[in-house]
This record gives sequence, structure tokens and C-alpha cells, in this order.
Amino acid sequence: SRVLRGPLLSFMNDPGEDDTPQPGSVLHLEDGALWIENGRIHAIAEYLELESELPDGIEVVDYRDKLMMPGFIDSHVHYVQLEIMASYGRQLLDWLNEYTFPEECRFAERAHAEAIAEAFLDETLRVGTTTAQVFCTSHPTSVDTFFAAAHRRGLRMLAGKVLMDRHAPDALVDDTYGGIRDTERLIGDWHGKGRLGYTLTPRFAPTSTREQLDATGGLLRNAPDLHLQTHLSENLGEIDWVAELFPEASDYLNVYERYGLVGPKSTFAHGIHLTQDARNRLAQAGSNIAFCPTSNLFLGSGLFDRLACREAGLNVTLASDIGGGTDLSGFGTLKAAYQVGQLLNQPLTPWQGFYRLTLGNARALHLESHIGSLRKDAEADIVVLDPKATPLLERRTARTTSLSELLFALMILGDDRAVHATWANGQLVHQRSEAVS
Ligand code: GUN
Ligand code: FE
Repeated sequence: SRVLRGPLLSFMNDPGEDDTPQPGSVLHLEDGALWIENGRIHAIAEYLELESELPDGIEVVDYRDKLMMPGFIDSHVHYVQLEIMASYGRQLLDWLNEYTFPEECRFAERAHAEAIAEAFLDETLRVGTTTAQVFCTSHPTSVDTFFAAAHRRGLRMLAGKVLMDRHAPDALVDDTYGGIRDTERLIGDWHGKGRLGYTLTPRFAPTSTREQLDATGGLLRNAPDLHLQTHLSENLGEIDWVAELFPEASDYLNVYERYGLVGPKSTFAHGIHLTQDARNRLAQAGSNIAFCPTSNLFLGSGLFDRLACREAGLNVTLASDIGGGTDLSGFGTLKAAYQVGQLLNQPLTPWQGFYRLTLGNARALHLESHIGSLRKDAEADIVVLDPKATPLLERRTARTTSLSELLFALMILGDDRAVHATWANGQLVHQRSEAVS
């Protein structure tokens, strides 16, 4: 048991889109204390209020020149694509064929999967992300390896085996029902183990037969507490292809609807080119769209209309989508989201941005009873930010006169260096080494 002392910030509710957050949506303590016991927040208060209750000799970690927030959440990311980030010059379908599928073939090999799973988790924690919803490959080994690594580190993670039984190299395609049986085995071994949860993961409509999509819907009907994630309406060429492959469907989303894949725990990555009718249907189902701004820009997929989703009442989560994305860091995602917002005349406020990265993502993923905010009994996943991490940040933040400005400076100028430390399950899992000066 120990106490983390210093400024802390947590959202308690959606702050809204205005420059000033909705009343009651933000908790900010200038000299706060998080008393951590058994991996959870045992108490949260002003340090001076809590001091007299603390047991003698309890360790107090001094973060008085830092800023503590709930650990960041990434709603859609491919751990297996870590090493093909920054692969040049292609849009989605060519990028998949030229870079992604060949790389994913390597995950038949356990040693490769183990090495990349560890590297991915190292990087994720280094940028302050403590929970992610993760695509593996179609190889069960890639899932066993990832879950085992996350479990050893005590992390709350969602992941699943990619289901794909056509339109990819032989080494990646499932036997239609074999892939389903593998999925059932993996659910049995990992779902609910420690802090792990299973996400059903049909890659996207073009790489699954109707039979595989139908069987996936069957799994979800039998176990509605499972998550599901896939891709939707990311790229115009992709959308045309889906229309050719599924002429019976009224639009791309309708393919997933036909097989019962659109539910309250479903995440659809991208969803850039959607009609308002499709947004309304997604909202009705309680699903969420993962906004992946660095990926959408990098693959030239398009500009995501966040406010059209809000108008439909559709949840938007934030995601890195590595390796289509260019930055695993939540700061990088926020910066790109802000820039996309500027092009659409809907700039993202720092309140809305950090809300989405923490409690907003937790809520949309139905994890809010565990993570996403700093409150009594929440799991102790905490990121400790350093507003003076770099000479530039130090200069900039010395001149900020409000919390809003400070958060915005972090959102635009922050990167892995601004993450001083990361705690997960009450344990220190990353500590930035002192810069060499
Ligand atoms: N659509 C289908 N597979 C993928 C993938 O791996 N990355 C992205 N960005 N889109 C996809
Ligand atoms: Fe993706």
C-alpha cells in the first residue's frame, strides 16, 4: 500500500463540447492523494485531508510537480503491426496486401509473437496507455502470447483472434469453422482471467465469408458479454468492394447487421464514410466508432466527422490503429484529432480530448466500473504526466495560465517524454529515466 501525492485530474462525466467543461464533469485536486491498496484506489482526497488517516510509515510517492490522470485507453490497435508502422505510400487495400498480410504471416511463429507482444506492451506503457482493445492475427498463438504477456504484467486488456477465411494469403486464412472453434478455445482459456477480456474479431467484411460472419454472430448471441471489433467504411475502394461482395446488403454496415454483429459492445474502427442513417443505426445499437486520426491521415482514408456522430448520439472512442496509425501515444492521437477537427471546423477541446482518452473510452467499452476515472475502488491504473518534460514543454507550460491551456499544450506538444511514470494494477510499470543533459 502506498500514496501518490500531487496534482490530479479525472473526469466524472462528459465535459461537453464547450470551452468550459460542464459543471461536475471534472475533478481537479491541486495537491491530491491517491491511496492505493491491493491494486485499487482505496481513497482519494486532498493530501492534507487524508494525511491524518494514513498509517504510520506508509510510502508517499511525491508527484507534486507532476499531473496524475487515469491511464489512457486505446480502443483499437493491432499489436502485430508494430514493425510495419511507417510503410510508405499506399492506401488501405494495397497497404494490406503489400505490408500487412506478409507481416501478419510471421505470427505463426511463437517466438516472433512473444517478442512483439512484449515490445508492444513496453511501448504502450511508456506512452501511458494502460488498456487497449487489440487485434492479434488469425493464428491462435498470437492471442495466447499476447494475453499471457498482459496477464503477467497485471494489465486490463481486451484482445482476440482475427477471423478471416478469404481474400488473403493461405498462411492467414482460417478454415471457416476451424477459426470459430479456435475462438471458442481461446475464450475458454482467457476471457475473464485476471483483468483480461475477449473481443470477437472478424477482420472486416471482405475477408470473411457469409458463413464465418454468421458463425461469429452465433458466438456473440451465446455470449453477449463478449466484446466485438472490426473495421467499417474506412476507404472508398474498400466500400466499393464490399458492395460487390455483398450485393444483398443495403450498405456496408448492413453486412454486419445481417449477422448480428452490431451490438452495445461492438467497436467499428474508422467509420469515416457513413450516411447519417448508418450513424443513427449504430447509435441505436449502442455501438461505438473508433476514431483513428493518425491512421486516417496516414492511409489517406478521409476526415472523420466527429460532430455528426455526436448529433446521432453515437459514441466515439479514440484509437491509435497502429500500424496504419503513426503514433501509439494518446497525445499523438489527440493532436491529430484536433487537426482533423480544425479542417472540419470542429476543433477538439482539451477537455473533450482527455475525457475521450480516459473515461469516454472506458464508458463506450463498458469498462467504466473498473477503469477510466480516479475514484474510490477504481483499479489503480494511473499515468503521471510531467508538464516540464522537455525544454519546450517547460517554456510553454510556464506561460499557461489555466488548466485548460496546460492540457492543450500537453495535447499538442506532448509525447512519450511527457509520461513520467505509469502505474497499472497499483504497481509501477514504467518510470522514465532521467534525461541526459
Ligand atoms: N481493414 C482491414 N484490416 C485492416 C487493418 O489491418 N488496418 C486497417 N487500418 N484497416 C483494415
Ligand atoms: Fe485497424
